Amino acid sequence: MACVVVDRERRVWTLSTEHTTYALHAAGDDKLVQLHWGARLTSAETARLTGPPFTTAPYGLPLDLEEPLPVDGGLRWGVPSLQVTFPGGVRSLELVLTGDEVVQEDGGARLDLVLADRHFPLRVVLHHRVHEGSDVIERWVTLRHTGTEGEPSGEPVLVHRADSGNWLLPELTDYRCSSITGAWAAETQLQRVPLPAGEFTLTSRHGLTGHHANPWIMVDDGTATEEHGEVWSVALAWSGTWRLTAQRRFEGRAAVTAGFGHDGVTWRLAPGEELSTPPVLGLHTDGGFGAASRAWHRHGRARVLPHPAETRPVLYNSWEAVEFDIDEAGQIALAQKAADLGVELFVMDDGWFGGRTDSTAGLGDWWPNPERFPHGLRPLADKVRTLGMEFGVWVEPEMVNPDSELYRAHPDWVLHHPHRRRDELRTQLVLNFARDDVREWAFGWLDRLVGDHGVTFLKWDMNRALSQAGWPERARSGDGDQDRLWIDHTRNVYAVMDRLRARHPALRIESCAGGGGRVDFGVLARTDEVWTSDNTDAFHRQSIQHGFSQVYPAGVMAAWVTDAARAPLEYRFHVAMAGVLGIGGDLNAWTPQQLDTARRLVAEYQGIRTVVQHGEQYRLGAEPGRGLSAVQYVHGDEVALLLYRPGAGVGPSPGVLRLAGLDPDARYREDDGGPDLSGRTLMRAGLPIRDRLPAGDWASALVRLRRLP
Ligand code: GLA
Repeated sequence: MACVVVDRERRVWTLSTEHTTYALHAAGDDKLVQLHWGARLTSAETARLTGPPFTTAPYGLPLDLEEPLPVDGGLRWGVPSLQVTFPGGVRSLELVLTGDEVVQEDGGARLDLVLADRHFPLRVVLHHRVHEGSDVIERWVTLRHTGTEGEPSGEPVLVHRADSGNWLLPELTDYRCSSITGAWAAETQLQRVPLPAGEFTLTSRHGLTGHHANPWIMVDDGTATEEHGEVWSVALAWSGTWRLTAQRRFEGRAAVTAGFGHDGVTWRLAPGEELSTPPVLGLHTDGGFGAASRAWHRHGRARVLPHPAETRPVLYNSWEAVEFDIDEAGQIALAQKAADLGVELFVMDDGWFGGRTDSTAGLGDWWPNPERFPHGLRPLADKVRTLGMEFGVWVEPEMVNPDSELYRAHPDWVLHHPHRRRDELRTQLVLNFARDDVREWAFGWLDRLVGDHGVTFLKWDMNRALSQAGWPERARSGDGDQDRLWIDHTRNVYAVMDRLRARHPALRIESCAGGGGRVDFGVLARTDEVWTSDNTDAFHRQSIQHGFSQVYPAGVMAAWVTDAARAPLEYRFHVAMAGVLGIGGDLNAWTPQQLDTARRLVAEYQGIRTVVQHGEQYRLGAEPGRGLSAVQYVHGDEVALLLYRPGAGVGPSPGVLRLAGLDPDARYREDDGGPDLSGRTLMRAGLPIRDRLPAGDWASALVRLRRLP
């Protein structure tokens, strides 16, 4: 089903997924354009597509939006996806198509289009990949300096921009963008705005994916709803800095170009060197934003996550309960209480190592604090396992407190420029993870920490952005380019994670960056869940989780019940049960009644978590927080529905809720009994809900239905 077809006569390359087609056409060796990206077309239909007219009027339409990788050069004035400087300061690229290759792969196919500059030694390969069972089209680019050291062709090429691909959108009556914005403790806030003529850029210059934007965008014609309409989405699988620009021309058409790195950084390519960009993923769907999200979730499960078939355990983490105030006895006391609730994974957070008793010291000194853990971590780890739970630990490998043994020994290991301040944030500096010695140091202690204690879960944190990002040794070496650290930092984080996982197959990793600062399809390829936000207030969480769910699946969304207690315990549980449930409250302070409630709800979650974590997700009702909203999950014959009405009397409170995604002809019955209702009735007339929600504010409920044989 997923395939690549080449029509040599018409010079058309067609990539097909189950429901979509993406077609490229070479009108000349230097005129490569995108013909179609959208609903699947037959090969006869694709054969009749016509490319854009190549006009040359002085102020006529440039063709850069149509190109798969518009360059800085020639008759182009749009946002370049590829921008380089050749020796002699030549900025204008002139690429010609020199070949193509189709490779059949396990579960899909790949198309490589090979281009080269007419004169200078640069080869550019446009890679495309389609997969069985997913409508996502994956693209990336490899640049190669084809010159020879010591010869005239051997001078380096400077790369200022190397996007992974530019996606042309079809002619629509209007264009609208959905993306997310946010901040620390207010991540993933959905933003849906018309795309004006001009350039709309989302970017991170922070050195990580970021809290204020996330590298994806959805474009529709302004009329799509949750259930109806075509949506074109683009997502970049990368956890460092990035830029994504949607351009709309006044004359018509729009395109999205995306890639790693931020404006202003330059990478030097020496003879024989290659620069490979991270994948940019394009997905066309019909069926509204809900269908787009479900297709992204399916892709994440099928093609990105390392262990998609697994079910994530219920965890306990004491951070919000005791923060840095931890020791062996205190952790064991909490572990006992957690085990009694049915928790399956106990995670010790910050404060267990070196002199780390608050945020000002010890970061970088990754040995157990001798006063807090006089016999090391083993007694705690063993006790946790005796209680029937797995043992997990918090780490922040990319950072250092200046007040630490590590910094005193290696002040040159942090990012810094000569004659510039080393600005601290949270009293910490950023280690230059692009350095080989720093990477090896990190791998070494992580490997020992995991291996020596049977650690099966790391919460990998990163609590500040990069600044003063210098690498003086690279700057001084004459041929160095210190901007490379913006890429290599992230690549080395990935490399350490990959090596750890290879050495410790039972290890699972949570990506965290001061809450939800590192959530993307790049990190999700080597982690198992992500910390969604440091904001654990259930009401705030609803909009955060709503934004998160637009692209990322519930099975990776860590959600804790804590003592952020504006909402009652049951409501807090019901919100956290919409993802990977965790508990983060101070169990020592919970009353026996609260502990009973928690025990019951943990068990209820364990009964629905396969449906939540692996099912198809439907967002129902009003926007979360406004009136009645719900999330529904369907997996096989099982349906789980979580209903929320935070404020009675604010907004409508309907008596029924129309469900989605059911088999219209099948009959469904609630686990608690009650009448059988057909899928059609539940989807068209709705499920009666008035009696299920308690009166007053903070009403919530879990409803389980099962399809009858
Ligand atoms: C970050 C994380 C928190 C916690 C602290 C520890 O803020 O998001 O969950 O781990 O660090 O310092």
